Amino acid sequence: MDKLIIHADLTKGHIRKTIQGHFSEHLGRCIYGGLYVGEHSDIPNENGIRRDVVEALRAIHLPVLRWPGGCFADEYHWKDGIGPREQRKKMINTHWGGVTEDNSFGTHEFMELCRQLDCDAYICGNVGSGTVQEMSEWVEYITSDAISPMTELRKQNGHAEPWRLPYFGVGNESWGCGGNMTAEYYANEYRRYQTFVRQYHPEDRIYRIACGPSADDYHWTDTLMKQAGSLMDGLSLHYYTVPQDWKHKGSALEFTEEEYYTTLRKTLFMEELLSRHSAIMDRYDPEKRVGLIVDEWGTWFDVEPGTNPGFLYQQNTMRDAIVAGLNLNLFNRHCDRVHMANIAQLVNVLQAMILTEGPDMLCTPSYYAFKLFSAHQENELLESHLQAEPLKAGGETLPGLQESTSLAPDGTVHVTLVNPSLSESRTLRIDVQGKTVSSIEGRVLTGAMDAHNTFDAPDTVRDQAFDAFRAEEDGLQVTLPACSIVHLALA
Ligand code: AHR
Repeated sequence: MDKLIIHADLTKGHIRKTIQGHFSEHLGRCIYGGLYVGEHSDIPNENGIRRDVVEALRAIHLPVLRWPGGCFADEYHWKDGIGPREQRKKMINTHWGGVTEDNSFGTHEFMELCRQLDCDAYICGNVGSGTVQEMSEWVEYITSDAISPMTELRKQNGHAEPWRLPYFGVGNESWGCGGNMTAEYYANEYRRYQTFVRQYHPEDRIYRIACGPSADDYHWTDTLMKQAGSLMDGLSLHYYTVPQDWKHKGSALEFTEEEYYTTLRKTLFMEELLSRHSAIMDRYDPEKRVGLIVDEWGTWFDVEPGTNPGFLYQQNTMRDAIVAGLNLNLFNRHCDRVHMANIAQLVNVLQAMILTEGPDMLCTPSYYAFKLFSAHQENELLESHLQAEPLKAGGETLPGLQESTSLAPDGTVHVTLVNPSLSESRTLRIDVQGKTVSSIEGRVLTGAMDAHNTFDAPDTVRDQAFDAFRAEEDGLQVTLPACSIVHLALA
Protein backbone atom coordinates (compact mmCIF):
# COMPACT_ATOMS: atom_id res chain seq x y z
CA MET A 1 0.00 0.00 0.00
CA ASP A 2 1.18 3.55 -0.72
CA LYS A 3 2.32 5.48 2.33
CA LEU A 4 2.67 9.13 3.31
CA ILE A 5 4.58 10.19 6.42
CA ILE A 6 3.96 13.76 7.56
CA HIS A 7 6.21 15.43 10.13
CA ALA A 8 3.83 17.99 11.62
CA ASP A 9 6.63 19.39 13.78
CA LEU A 10 9.17 19.94 10.95
CA THR A 11 8.56 23.07 8.88
CA LYS A 12 10.57 23.74 5.71
CA GLY A 13 9.58 27.17 4.43
CA HIS A 14 6.78 29.66 4.02
CA ILE A 15 4.14 29.16 1.31
CA ARG A 16 3.41 32.68 0.11
CA LYS A 17 -0.17 33.15 -0.98
CA THR A 18 1.20 34.62 -4.22
CA ILE A 19 2.14 31.09 -5.35
CA GLN A 20 -1.55 30.89 -6.32
CA GLY A 21 -1.45 34.07 -8.42
CA HIS A 22 -3.09 34.91 -11.75
CA PHE A 23 -2.45 36.74 -14.99
CA SER A 24 -4.76 38.94 -17.09
CA GLU A 25 -3.67 40.34 -20.45
CA HIS A 26 -5.28 42.55 -23.07
CA LEU A 27 -5.80 39.42 -25.14
CA GLY A 28 -9.01 38.11 -26.68
CA ARG A 29 -11.86 38.31 -24.15
CA CYS A 30 -9.83 38.26 -20.95
CA ILE A 31 -10.15 41.95 -20.05
CA TYR A 32 -12.98 43.10 -22.33
CA GLY A 33 -16.09 40.97 -21.84
CA GLY A 34 -14.43 38.69 -19.29
CA LEU A 35 -13.51 41.08 -16.50
CA TYR A 36 -14.62 44.49 -17.74
CA VAL A 37 -17.91 45.29 -19.46
CA GLY A 38 -18.11 49.04 -18.83
CA GLU A 39 -20.43 50.97 -16.55
CA HIS A 40 -23.28 51.10 -19.08
CA SER A 41 -23.46 47.36 -19.67
CA ASP A 42 -26.62 45.35 -18.88
CA ILE A 43 -24.33 42.79 -17.25
CA PRO A 44 -24.33 43.56 -13.52
CA ASN A 45 -21.15 45.46 -12.73
CA GLU A 46 -19.49 47.75 -10.24
CA ASN A 47 -17.57 50.56 -11.93
CA GLY A 48 -17.61 48.51 -15.13
CA ILE A 49 -16.23 45.31 -13.58
CA ARG A 50 -18.39 42.15 -13.68
CA ARG A 51 -19.89 41.36 -10.30
CA ASP A 52 -20.34 37.63 -11.00
CA VAL A 53 -16.67 37.17 -11.93
CA VAL A 54 -15.41 39.15 -8.93
CA GLU A 55 -17.63 37.16 -6.58
CA ALA A 56 -16.34 33.84 -7.92
CA LEU A 57 -12.70 34.93 -7.77
CA ARG A 58 -12.98 36.25 -4.23
CA ALA A 59 -14.18 32.79 -3.19
CA ILE A 60 -10.79 31.27 -4.17
CA HIS A 61 -8.87 34.09 -2.42
CA LEU A 62 -7.10 35.28 -5.56
CA PRO A 63 -3.94 36.79 -4.05
CA VAL A 64 -2.18 38.71 -6.84
CA LEU A 65 -2.97 39.70 -10.43
CA ARG A 66 -0.44 40.41 -13.20
CA TRP A 67 -1.35 42.95 -15.91
CA PRO A 68 -1.36 44.26 -18.72
CA GLY A 69 0.64 41.43 -20.41
CA GLY A 70 2.34 39.36 -21.64
CA CYS A 71 3.51 40.40 -25.04
CA PHE A 72 0.98 43.24 -24.86
CA ALA A 73 2.97 44.87 -22.04
CA ASP A 74 5.87 45.72 -24.33
CA GLU A 75 3.70 47.67 -26.73
CA TYR A 76 1.50 49.28 -24.06
CA HIS A 77 1.88 52.98 -23.39
CA TRP A 78 0.19 53.64 -20.10
CA LYS A 79 -0.63 57.29 -20.72
CA ASP A 80 -2.99 56.15 -23.51
CA GLY A 81 -5.10 54.43 -20.84
CA ILE A 82 -5.80 57.30 -18.42
CA GLY A 83 -8.10 60.34 -18.45
CA PRO A 84 -11.60 60.66 -19.93
CA ARG A 85 -12.37 57.41 -21.74
CA GLU A 86 -13.80 59.00 -24.86
CA GLN A 87 -10.52 60.86 -25.37
CA ARG A 88 -8.26 57.85 -24.96
CA LYS A 89 -6.15 56.82 -27.96
CA LYS A 90 -7.06 53.72 -29.89
CA MET A 91 -4.31 51.32 -30.92
CA ILE A 92 -3.82 48.04 -32.78
CA ASN A 93 -3.31 45.02 -30.59
CA THR A 94 -0.72 43.61 -32.98
CA HIS A 95 0.06 40.45 -31.01
CA TRP A 96 -3.47 39.33 -30.39
CA GLY A 97 -5.66 39.33 -33.46
CA GLY A 98 -4.89 42.86 -34.69
CA VAL A 99 -8.06 44.11 -33.01
CA THR A 100 -8.64 47.71 -31.91
CA GLU A 101 -7.69 48.38 -28.32
CA ASP A 102 -9.63 51.43 -27.16
CA ASN A 103 -7.76 51.74 -23.87
CA SER A 104 -10.99 51.98 -21.90
CA PHE A 105 -9.42 49.64 -19.34
CA GLY A 106 -6.25 51.30 -18.03
CA THR A 107 -4.37 51.94 -14.81
CA HIS A 108 -7.33 53.26 -12.78
CA GLU A 109 -9.57 50.42 -13.91
CA PHE A 110 -6.92 47.80 -13.10
CA MET A 111 -6.38 49.23 -9.64
CA GLU A 112 -10.15 49.26 -9.11
CA LEU A 113 -10.27 45.59 -10.17
CA CYS A 114 -7.57 44.75 -7.61
CA ARG A 115 -9.53 46.67 -4.95
CA GLN A 116 -12.67 44.68 -5.71
CA LEU A 117 -10.76 41.39 -5.75
CA ASP A 118 -8.87 42.40 -2.60
CA CYS A 119 -5.62 41.28 -4.22
CA ASP A 120 -2.12 42.64 -4.78
CA ALA A 121 -1.32 44.40 -8.05
CA TYR A 122 1.54 43.18 -10.24
CA ILE A 123 2.18 45.51 -13.19
CA CYS A 124 4.54 44.64 -16.02
CA GLY A 125 6.32 47.65 -17.55
CA ASN A 126 7.31 48.25 -21.17
CA VAL A 127 11.01 47.76 -21.93
CA GLY A 128 10.60 46.59 -25.55
CA SER A 129 9.08 49.75 -27.06
CA GLY A 130 8.93 52.11 -24.08
CA THR A 131 11.42 54.49 -22.53
CA VAL A 132 12.99 54.60 -19.11
CA GLN A 133 11.17 57.89 -18.54
CA GLU A 134 7.80 56.34 -19.41
CA MET A 135 8.34 53.47 -16.98
CA SER A 136 9.63 55.78 -14.27
CA GLU A 137 6.65 58.11 -14.62
CA TRP A 138 4.19 55.21 -14.43
CA VAL A 139 5.59 54.15 -11.07
CA GLU A 140 5.54 57.78 -9.92
CA TYR A 141 1.93 58.23 -11.11
CA ILE A 142 0.79 55.16 -9.22
CA THR A 143 2.76 55.31 -5.99
CA SER A 144 4.03 58.81 -5.15
CA ASP A 145 2.25 61.14 -2.75
CA ALA A 146 4.69 64.02 -3.34
CA ILE A 147 3.97 67.06 -5.53
CA SER A 148 4.88 66.41 -9.17
CA PRO A 149 3.37 66.60 -12.67
CA MET A 150 2.54 62.88 -12.49
CA THR A 151 0.84 63.03 -9.11
CA GLU A 152 -1.10 66.13 -10.22
CA LEU A 153 -2.23 64.23 -13.31
CA ARG A 154 -3.42 61.32 -11.17
CA LYS A 155 -5.37 63.71 -8.97
CA GLN A 156 -6.92 65.38 -12.03
CA ASN A 157 -7.99 61.90 -13.15
CA GLY A 158 -9.89 61.40 -9.93
CA HIS A 159 -7.49 59.56 -7.62
CA ALA A 160 -6.06 61.80 -4.92
CA GLU A 161 -4.25 59.09 -2.97
CA PRO A 162 -1.46 56.94 -4.37
CA TRP A 163 -2.05 53.22 -4.73
CA ARG A 164 0.04 50.40 -3.33
CA LEU A 165 2.06 48.67 -6.03
CA PRO A 166 3.58 45.58 -4.42
CA TYR A 167 5.08 44.05 -7.61
CA PHE A 168 6.57 45.52 -10.78
CA GLY A 169 8.01 43.60 -13.75
CA VAL A 170 10.70 45.19 -15.90
CA GLY A 171 9.68 43.88 -19.33
CA ASN A 172 8.12 40.62 -20.47
CA GLU A 173 9.78 37.86 -22.50
CA SER A 174 12.57 40.25 -23.49
CA TRP A 175 14.19 37.25 -25.25
CA GLY A 176 11.16 37.09 -27.60
CA CYS A 177 8.10 39.29 -28.12
CA GLY A 178 9.51 41.84 -25.65
CA GLY A 179 12.42 42.84 -27.90
CA ASN A 180 14.37 39.75 -29.04
CA MET A 181 17.27 40.64 -26.77
CA THR A 182 20.20 38.51 -25.74
CA ALA A 183 20.62 37.73 -22.04
CA GLU A 184 23.69 39.96 -21.84
CA TYR A 185 21.93 42.91 -23.52
CA TYR A 186 18.78 42.57 -21.41
CA ALA A 187 20.80 42.31 -18.19
CA ASN A 188 22.21 45.79 -18.93
CA GLU A 189 18.79 47.12 -19.86
CA TYR A 190 17.36 45.69 -16.65
CA ARG A 191 20.06 47.40 -14.59
CA ARG A 192 19.22 50.74 -16.21
CA TYR A 193 15.40 50.54 -16.17
CA GLN A 194 15.12 49.24 -12.61
CA THR A 195 17.18 52.19 -11.37
CA PHE A 196 14.21 54.42 -12.15
CA VAL A 197 11.58 52.16 -10.59
CA ARG A 198 11.74 54.45 -7.59
CA GLN A 199 10.84 53.38 -4.08
CA TYR A 200 8.64 56.25 -2.88
CA HIS A 201 7.72 54.33 0.26
CA PRO A 202 10.82 52.57 1.63
CA GLU A 203 8.62 50.94 4.30
CA ASP A 204 6.43 49.39 1.59
CA ARG A 205 8.93 48.62 -1.16
CA ILE A 206 8.07 47.61 -4.70
CA TYR A 207 9.30 44.07 -5.42
CA ARG A 208 11.17 44.36 -8.77
CA ILE A 209 10.96 41.39 -11.12
CA ALA A 210 13.46 40.92 -13.94
CA CYS A 211 12.52 39.06 -17.10
CA GLY A 212 13.76 35.53 -16.67
CA PRO A 213 14.18 32.52 -18.92
CA SER A 214 11.94 30.70 -21.29
CA ALA A 215 11.66 27.11 -20.00
CA ASP A 216 15.14 25.52 -19.91
CA ASP A 217 17.25 28.50 -21.02
CA TYR A 218 19.73 28.11 -18.15
CA HIS A 219 22.20 30.52 -19.76
CA TRP A 220 19.63 33.31 -19.36
CA THR A 221 19.26 32.63 -15.62
CA ASP A 222 23.01 32.42 -15.11
CA THR A 223 23.64 35.70 -16.98
CA LEU A 224 20.89 37.62 -15.23
CA MET A 225 21.92 36.42 -11.78
CA LYS A 226 25.58 37.17 -12.48
CA GLN A 227 25.08 40.61 -13.99
CA ALA A 228 22.03 41.91 -12.16
CA GLY A 229 21.10 39.52 -9.34
CA SER A 230 21.81 42.08 -6.62
CA LEU A 231 19.43 44.59 -8.24
CA MET A 232 16.34 42.39 -8.42
CA ASP A 233 13.88 40.83 -5.98
CA GLY A 234 12.54 38.25 -8.40
CA LEU A 235 13.38 36.57 -11.70
CA SER A 236 10.55 35.27 -13.86
CA LEU A 237 10.20 31.87 -15.55
CA HIS A 238 7.74 31.01 -18.32
CA TYR A 239 6.80 27.43 -19.14
CA TYR A 240 3.63 26.23 -20.85
CA THR A 241 2.30 22.67 -21.08
CA VAL A 242 1.75 21.94 -24.78
CA PRO A 243 0.61 18.32 -25.36
CA GLN A 244 1.90 17.95 -28.93
CA ASP A 245 4.03 20.73 -30.46
CA TRP A 246 3.72 24.48 -31.01
CA LYS A 247 2.29 24.03 -34.51
CA HIS A 248 -0.34 21.44 -33.59
CA LYS A 249 -0.81 21.79 -29.87
CA GLY A 250 -3.74 19.39 -29.51
CA SER A 251 -7.41 19.86 -28.69
CA ALA A 252 -8.59 20.98 -25.27
CA LEU A 253 -11.57 18.62 -25.35
CA GLU A 254 -10.81 15.76 -27.72
CA PHE A 255 -7.74 13.82 -26.71
CA THR A 256 -6.71 10.22 -26.13
CA GLU A 257 -5.57 8.60 -22.89
CA GLU A 258 -2.03 8.60 -24.31
CA GLU A 259 -2.25 12.35 -24.85
CA TYR A 260 -3.57 12.81 -21.31
CA TYR A 261 -0.55 11.04 -19.83
CA THR A 262 1.87 12.84 -22.18
CA THR A 263 0.37 16.15 -21.06
CA LEU A 264 1.05 15.25 -17.43
CA ARG A 265 4.60 14.14 -18.19
CA LYS A 266 5.22 17.44 -19.94
CA THR A 267 3.74 19.45 -17.08
CA LEU A 268 5.94 17.58 -14.58
CA PHE A 269 8.98 18.93 -16.45
CA MET A 270 8.29 21.94 -14.20
CA GLU A 271 9.99 19.98 -11.38
CA GLU A 272 13.27 19.85 -13.31
CA LEU A 273 12.95 23.51 -14.31
CA LEU A 274 12.40 24.64 -10.72
CA SER A 275 15.30 22.51 -9.42
CA ARG A 276 17.81 23.52 -12.08
CA HIS A 277 17.00 27.25 -12.19
CA SER A 278 17.04 27.28 -8.36
CA ALA A 279 20.45 25.56 -8.34
CA ILE A 280 21.86 28.29 -10.61
CA MET A 281 20.30 30.99 -8.44
CA ASP A 282 21.78 29.32 -5.34
CA ARG A 283 25.27 29.92 -6.73
CA TYR A 284 24.75 33.70 -6.72
CA ASP A 285 22.14 33.98 -3.97
CA PRO A 286 22.62 31.18 -1.42
CA GLU A 287 20.36 33.02 1.07
CA LYS A 288 17.50 32.67 -1.45
CA ARG A 289 16.65 36.37 -1.30
CA VAL A 290 15.69 36.51 -4.99
CA GLY A 291 12.43 34.74 -5.80
CA LEU A 292 11.73 32.59 -8.83
CA ILE A 293 8.49 34.02 -10.21
CA VAL A 294 6.70 31.55 -12.48
CA ASP A 295 4.60 34.33 -13.93
CA GLU A 296 3.25 32.37 -16.90
CA TRP A 297 2.35 28.69 -16.75
CA GLY A 298 -0.51 26.39 -17.70
CA THR A 299 -1.91 24.44 -20.64
CA TRP A 300 -1.85 25.82 -24.18
CA PHE A 301 -4.08 23.97 -26.67
CA ASP A 302 -5.41 24.75 -30.15
CA VAL A 303 -8.17 27.34 -29.92
CA GLU A 304 -11.78 26.13 -29.85
CA PRO A 305 -12.96 25.51 -33.44
CA GLY A 306 -14.61 28.59 -34.93
CA THR A 307 -12.99 31.07 -32.53
CA ASN A 308 -10.46 33.78 -33.42
CA PRO A 309 -6.99 32.13 -33.46
CA GLY A 310 -5.54 35.32 -31.94
CA PHE A 311 -7.83 35.09 -28.91
CA LEU A 312 -6.45 31.84 -27.41
CA TYR A 313 -9.84 30.68 -26.17
CA GLN A 314 -9.85 27.04 -25.00
CA GLN A 315 -12.15 24.81 -22.96
CA ASN A 316 -10.95 23.33 -19.70
CA THR A 317 -11.35 19.74 -18.44
CA MET A 318 -10.34 17.51 -15.54
CA ARG A 319 -7.02 17.13 -17.38
CA ASP A 320 -6.44 20.87 -16.79
CA ALA A 321 -7.39 20.48 -13.14
CA ILE A 322 -4.84 17.68 -12.72
CA VAL A 323 -2.20 19.86 -14.46
CA ALA A 324 -3.04 22.67 -12.02
CA GLY A 325 -2.87 20.33 -9.02
CA LEU A 326 0.51 18.90 -10.02
CA ASN A 327 1.99 22.37 -10.53
CA LEU A 328 0.55 23.84 -7.33
CA ASN A 329 2.00 20.93 -5.33
CA LEU A 330 5.38 21.51 -7.01
CA PHE A 331 5.31 25.24 -6.23
CA ASN A 332 4.53 24.47 -2.58
CA ARG A 333 7.40 22.01 -2.40
CA HIS A 334 9.77 24.63 -3.88
CA CYS A 335 8.45 27.50 -1.77
CA ASP A 336 11.94 28.33 -0.53
CA ARG A 337 12.66 29.76 -4.00
CA VAL A 338 9.26 30.15 -5.69
CA HIS A 339 7.80 33.38 -4.31
CA MET A 340 5.01 33.75 -6.84
CA ALA A 341 3.37 31.92 -9.75
CA ASN A 342 0.69 33.24 -12.11
CA ILE A 343 -1.38 30.85 -14.19
CA ALA A 344 -2.19 32.04 -17.73
CA GLN A 345 -4.82 33.41 -17.85
CA LEU A 346 -7.67 34.43 -15.59
CA VAL A 347 -10.75 34.57 -17.87
CA ASN A 348 -11.46 33.26 -21.40
CA VAL A 349 -7.78 32.80 -22.35
CA LEU A 350 -5.64 29.61 -22.17
CA GLN A 351 -6.03 27.70 -18.86
CA ALA A 352 -8.73 29.99 -17.51
CA MET A 353 -10.46 29.94 -14.13
CA ILE A 354 -13.62 31.38 -15.66
CA LEU A 355 -15.28 31.32 -19.06
CA THR A 356 -17.91 33.87 -20.07
CA GLU A 357 -20.37 34.18 -22.92
CA GLY A 358 -22.26 37.48 -22.83
CA PRO A 359 -24.00 37.57 -19.44
CA ASP A 360 -23.26 33.89 -18.68
CA MET A 361 -20.26 32.62 -16.82
CA LEU A 362 -18.92 29.31 -15.54
CA CYS A 363 -16.10 28.19 -13.31
CA THR A 364 -13.74 25.67 -14.89
CA PRO A 365 -12.26 22.49 -13.33
CA SER A 366 -9.01 24.49 -12.91
CA TYR A 367 -10.92 26.98 -10.76
CA TYR A 368 -11.98 24.16 -8.44
CA ALA A 369 -8.39 22.89 -8.26
CA PHE A 370 -7.31 26.34 -7.07
CA LYS A 371 -10.16 26.30 -4.59
CA LEU A 372 -8.90 23.06 -3.02
CA PHE A 373 -5.36 24.44 -2.76
CA SER A 374 -6.34 27.80 -1.26
CA ALA A 375 -6.06 26.36 2.27
CA HIS A 376 -2.24 26.34 1.85
CA GLN A 377 -1.95 30.13 1.47
CA GLU A 378 0.48 31.67 4.02
CA ASN A 379 1.08 28.30 5.73
CA GLU A 380 4.40 26.62 6.54
CA LEU A 381 5.45 23.76 4.27
CA LEU A 382 5.87 20.54 6.25
CA GLU A 383 8.42 17.79 5.79
CA SER A 384 6.64 14.83 4.21
CA HIS A 385 7.66 11.58 2.54
CA LEU A 386 5.53 9.75 0.02
CA GLN A 387 6.16 6.16 -1.04
CA ALA A 388 3.91 5.36 -3.99
CA GLU A 389 4.17 2.83 -6.78
CA PRO A 390 4.93 4.66 -10.04
CA LEU A 391 2.16 4.83 -12.59
CA LYS A 392 2.89 3.18 -15.95
CA ALA A 393 0.22 4.14 -18.47
CA GLY A 394 -0.16 5.46 -21.99
CA GLY A 395 3.49 4.81 -22.73
CA GLU A 396 4.60 7.09 -19.86
CA THR A 397 5.97 6.47 -16.37
CA LEU A 398 4.67 9.04 -13.89
CA PRO A 399 4.57 9.41 -10.11
CA GLY A 400 1.74 7.21 -8.82
CA LEU A 401 0.61 9.95 -6.47
CA GLN A 402 1.82 13.45 -5.68
CA GLU A 403 1.32 15.65 -2.60
CA SER A 404 2.28 18.68 -0.59
CA THR A 405 1.52 19.32 3.06
CA SER A 406 1.42 22.50 5.13
CA LEU A 407 0.77 23.72 8.65
CA ALA A 408 -1.75 26.53 9.13
CA PRO A 409 -1.37 29.12 11.91
CA ASP A 410 -4.24 27.43 13.83
CA GLY A 411 -2.35 24.10 13.89
CA THR A 412 -4.38 22.37 11.16
CA VAL A 413 -2.37 20.24 8.74
CA HIS A 414 -3.48 20.61 5.10
CA VAL A 415 -2.66 17.90 2.56
CA THR A 416 -3.35 18.10 -1.17
CA LEU A 417 -3.06 14.81 -3.06
CA VAL A 418 -3.21 14.18 -6.80
CA ASN A 419 -4.04 10.76 -8.24
CA PRO A 420 -3.27 11.04 -11.99
CA SER A 421 -4.38 7.50 -12.92
CA LEU A 422 -7.41 7.31 -15.20
CA SER A 423 -8.29 3.77 -14.16
CA GLU A 424 -7.08 3.06 -10.63
CA SER A 425 -8.18 4.44 -7.31
CA ARG A 426 -5.30 4.37 -4.80
CA THR A 427 -5.38 3.55 -1.13
CA LEU A 428 -2.89 5.50 0.92
CA ARG A 429 -1.90 5.18 4.57
CA ILE A 430 -1.10 8.54 6.15
CA ASP A 431 1.02 8.61 9.28
CA VAL A 432 1.06 12.04 10.97
CA GLN A 433 3.98 12.40 13.35
CA GLY A 434 4.25 15.18 15.93
CA LYS A 435 0.52 15.84 16.13
CA THR A 436 -2.62 14.17 17.45
CA VAL A 437 -5.32 14.36 14.80
CA SER A 438 -8.77 14.67 16.30
CA SER A 439 -10.85 15.65 13.30
CA ILE A 440 -10.61 15.24 9.52
CA GLU A 441 -12.40 17.08 6.76
CA GLY A 442 -12.01 16.40 3.07
CA ARG A 443 -12.96 17.77 -0.36
CA VAL A 444 -12.46 16.06 -3.70
CA LEU A 445 -12.44 17.05 -7.37
CA THR A 446 -12.81 14.11 -9.71
CA GLY A 447 -14.27 13.11 -13.07
CA ALA A 448 -13.48 11.64 -16.47
CA MET A 449 -10.35 13.10 -18.05
CA ASP A 450 -12.40 15.21 -20.48
CA ALA A 451 -15.20 16.16 -18.05
CA HIS A 452 -15.88 19.88 -18.27
CA ASN A 453 -18.44 22.57 -17.58
CA THR A 454 -20.56 24.25 -20.25
CA PHE A 455 -22.92 27.21 -20.15
CA ASP A 456 -25.83 24.71 -20.31
CA ALA A 457 -24.35 22.46 -17.61
CA PRO A 458 -22.03 24.69 -15.53
CA ASP A 459 -21.86 22.35 -12.51
CA THR A 460 -20.81 19.07 -14.12
CA VAL A 461 -17.37 19.30 -12.52
CA ARG A 462 -17.01 20.86 -9.10
CA ASP A 463 -15.53 19.98 -5.74
CA GLN A 464 -17.50 17.73 -3.40
CA ALA A 465 -17.34 16.65 0.22
CA PHE A 466 -14.95 13.70 0.61
CA ASP A 467 -15.24 10.98 3.25
CA ALA A 468 -13.35 7.99 1.82
CA PHE A 469 -11.02 7.88 4.81
CA ARG A 470 -10.95 6.13 8.15
CA ALA A 471 -8.76 6.44 11.23
CA GLU A 472 -6.90 3.23 12.12
CA GLU A 473 -4.50 2.36 14.94
CA ASP A 474 -1.39 3.10 12.88
CA GLY A 475 -2.69 6.06 10.92
CA LEU A 476 -5.25 7.23 8.51
CA GLN A 477 -6.36 5.22 5.49
CA VAL A 478 -7.54 7.23 2.48
CA THR A 479 -8.88 6.01 -0.86
CA LEU A 480 -8.32 8.46 -3.69
CA PRO A 481 -10.56 8.05 -6.74
CA ALA A 482 -9.00 7.83 -10.20
CA CYS A 483 -8.23 11.19 -11.83
CA SER A 484 -8.70 13.21 -8.67
CA ILE A 485 -7.42 15.93 -6.39
CA VAL A 486 -8.16 15.56 -2.69
CA HIS A 487 -7.73 18.16 0.05
CA LEU A 488 -7.61 16.91 3.64
CA ALA A 489 -7.68 19.21 6.66
CA LEU A 490 -6.32 17.36 9.70
CA ALA A 491 -7.12 19.25 12.90
O1 AHR B 1 -0.08 34.15 -22.29
C1 AHR B 1 0.01 34.35 -23.67
C2 AHR B 1 1.38 34.84 -24.10
O2 AHR B 1 2.33 33.85 -23.85
C3 AHR B 1 1.94 36.03 -23.38
O3 AHR B 1 1.48 37.23 -23.88
C4 AHR B 1 3.41 35.91 -23.60
O4 AHR B 1 4.17 36.49 -22.55
C5 AHR B 1 3.62 34.41 -23.71
O5 AHR B 1 4.39 34.08 -24.81
